[in-house]
Amino acid sequence: MHSTISVRNLSKIYDGGFQALKNINLEIQRGEIFALLGPNGAGKTTLISIVCGLVNPGEGQVLADGHDIITDFRAARAKIGLVPQELTTDSFETVWNTIGFSRGLFGKPANPAHLEAVLRELSLWDKRNTRIMKLSGGMKRRVMIAKALAHEPQILFLDEPTAGVDVELRRDMWEMVRRLRASGVTIILTTHYIEEAEEMADRIGVIHKGEIVVVEDKSALMKKLGKKQLTLQLQSPMTTIPPELADYPLELSADGNQLVYTFDTQGDRTGIAGLLRRLSDHGIDFKDLNTSESSLEEIFVNLVRSRT
Ligand SMILES: Nc1ncnc2c1ncn2[C@@H]1O[C@H](COP(=O)(O)OP(=O)(O)OP(=O)(O)O)[C@@H](O)[C@H]1O
Ligand SMILES: [Mg+2]
Repeated sequence: MHSTISVRNLSKIYDGGFQALKNINLEIQRGEIFALLGPNGAGKTTLISIVCGLVNPGEGQVLADGHDIITDFRAARAKIGLVPQELTTDSFETVWNTIGFSRGLFGKPANPAHLEAVLRELSLWDKRNTRIMKLSGGMKRRVMIAKALAHEPQILFLDEPTAGVDVELRRDMWEMVRRLRASGVTIILTTHYIEEAEEMADRIGVIHKGEIVVVEDKSALMKKLGKKQLTLQLQSPMTTIPPELADYPLELSADGNQLVYTFDTQGDRTGIAGLLRRLSDHGIDFKDLNTSESSLEEIFVNLVRSRT
């Protein structure tokens, strides 16, 4: 596969002297949905803003579809649509004029059919003649998306598109993202709703304090760093874990009713069969059991915590 965005040895120091990015290397594959996760202030918006030409890079190089974002800015920028984190549309213009203007900025010929399709998809068609200042916050956010799509970009950046958005709009947006991807658009998004990344993304990158901590296929990441747990509901409560089970990594719940066994998802053998045999040998009965897997959220929290 081809990289559609190439970030090479990128560092950024803001004017005040703060280093927001430290030697970032990142390849985004054509047609993927890539989720960039990281705590507040990690550098996500800085990275996106540099790729989109809104913030000057410090050191390093960024290519968008092979075009250098500095020396070949117009060609690079034309490939990219950006839905910024901060809403910046509070204008007297109508929705229709705003997105038409946005398309024109990229030197694309008028295409009312495309603009209509975008507005319909975002349930904004009825609002096309409304001035943006008269729209609700959620509708303004839809307009930002429509603006980003007006020039038919091949790469779409969504910087926390669903922050403060209601459940329905969020669902619509994710459907739209899936459709865009199906039409060949590469999507890079940031989100603080990690279950969203878990559901949507093909790959996950975690950024922390300006450094990329991990980049991995989502499923590989969850398999590699995830843990599974087996919880046994005991027939009769225990006060302590009996010594004959001491060689198993077990935890007893506070009320003594549950025994929790944590095992690696990567290992060939879970050790469950041996544990159950041991329990039965020692007359420890249980009435129910279930297994659970760690979520991306738990993996993320562990990754970030282990670095502070
Ligand atoms: N214009 C600026 N001048 C100086 N420092 C800045 C500027 N913009 C951002 N920063 C700093 O750079 C760091 C990274 O900010 P950035 O906005 O990229 O984080 P983020 O990962 O997008 O966070 P969030 O999840 O809160 O959106 C922060 O410490 C921030 O204070
Ligand atoms: Mg941000």
